[in-house]
Amino acid sequence: MATQPKSTTSRSEEVVRKHREYLWPAVTNYYREPLVADHASMQYVWDIEGNKYLDFFGGILTIGVGHCNPKVTSKIKAQVDKLQHTSTLYPNEAIVALAEKLAQITPGRLQKSFLTNSGTEANEAAILLARMAGSSYDVVALRHAYSGGSTLAKGLTAQAAWRKSGVISVGIAHALSPYCYRCPLSLKYPDCGVACANDVENLIQTGTSGSIAAFLAEPIQGVGGFITPPPEYFKIVFRIVKDYGGLFISDEVQTGFGRTGKKWFGIEQWEVTPDIITCAKSMANGVPVGATITTAELAAKFQGLTISTFGGNPVTSVAARAVIDVIEEENLLENAHTVGGYFRGKLEELKEKHCLIGDVRGMGMMQGLELVRDRQTKEPAAAETTQLMERARSNGLLIGKGGLYANVIRLAPPLNISKADADAAILILDRSLSEIRT
Ligand SMILES: Cc1ncc(COP(=O)(O)O)c(C=O)c1O
Repeated sequence: MATQPKSTTSRSEEVVRKHREYLWPAVTNYYREPLVADHASMQYVWDIEGNKYLDFFGGILTIGVGHCNPKVTSKIKAQVDKLQHTSTLYPNEAIVALAEKLAQITPGRLQKSFLTNSGTEANEAAILLARMAGSSYDVVALRHAYSGGSTLAKGLTAQAAWRKSGVISVGIAHALSPYCYRCPLSLKYPDCGVACANDVENLIQTGTSGSIAAFLAEPIQGVGGFITPPPEYFKIVFRIVKDYGGLFISDEVQTGFGRTGKKWFGIEQWEVTPDIITCAKSMANGVPVGATITTAELAAKFQGLTISTFGGNPVTSVAARAVIDVIEEENLLENAHTVGGYFRGKLEELKEKHCLIGDVRGMGMMQGLELVRDRQTKEPAAAETTQLMERARSNGLLIGKGGLYANVIRLAPPLNISKADADAAILILDRSLSEIRT
């Protein structure tokens, strides 16, 4: 476990200096003294100075089954030596093995995949298909959403920092986020009658052409700060979306492949069967792959041709299939539920002890802490959140940050951690919270 980070040595200094010199400054690093990662194994990461960290952020929710999990890397290595690339002009065993498995684990009749390299591309493909499949161009997304880095995905995104110059969101309307802790309608659940969900109908009537191509949302809003809707929210929205001719797209880039526990996809927690699912991030445990999965009928409505040169690459396909196999073999959907629930209980105890924690939310291995200066006013504690990140790092724990106000701690360990790992993280969080100076 890391102690105080040792004084910055020339090795990490050199990496940080070159990073600043040769990479775009818009791509920021965490921490006052950026952590130069050297190697990793399962739930641990080591920096270049040899400090060991328990990793409860896993890239950015990308490490689903542990860093460099040998059950995944061994298959990647074998595939690299066998067939590394063909393009999709030739079918291969790896791509069909993955697509067949995706058809089995997705809900409803989703059985046709388009494979890409990222969540952004997965969402692009979903919106493109939805606009081709129906007669409307209009799309409804959610405020506080993050959907990716392309122009269209930035248009779907609804946080100013990610929507600077050049974002064109013609044909995209943003509905209220089901953000109960900071209700956009200043109401209280359940007396609110889930008014934010019902408002989607008025938005379609007033902010679109009156019918929609699609509604796209994350089952739990990730970058938005693990905003978790009330249980009825998506059922109500689904009905409205169908009444106005739209497809329901579930962006599972963060929630996908078991993160919320018990189910493969987050939307299944809300008992809604989507028309399209998009996923990426942890689906291949850090190997770049994205997927847009839909029904045979909808896939057939794609007009013209499409291709992704690297999408469905044999190596990335083998990686994603290996991840699914590990989750099945090791019963990790159940582990994410059980250990995630245990971890949640301990986080609730921390909330009792530390008044800085205003809200604990999330599901399974996706838990958020919203930090506030005052539980009454809910003033966002952004500086304290940064301090907690730094203290936790010094004490040997890596955690993430999110939320419109940069005051939400995101905790997303691999699905295969144990209760002992959860206890270790809680101990460090407790100590780090006590060390915060306001
Ligand atoms: C919910 C969601 N959708 C889409 C994306 C975009 O994925 P990528 O960065 O792989 O393009 C992200 C990335 O954080 C995300 O969180």
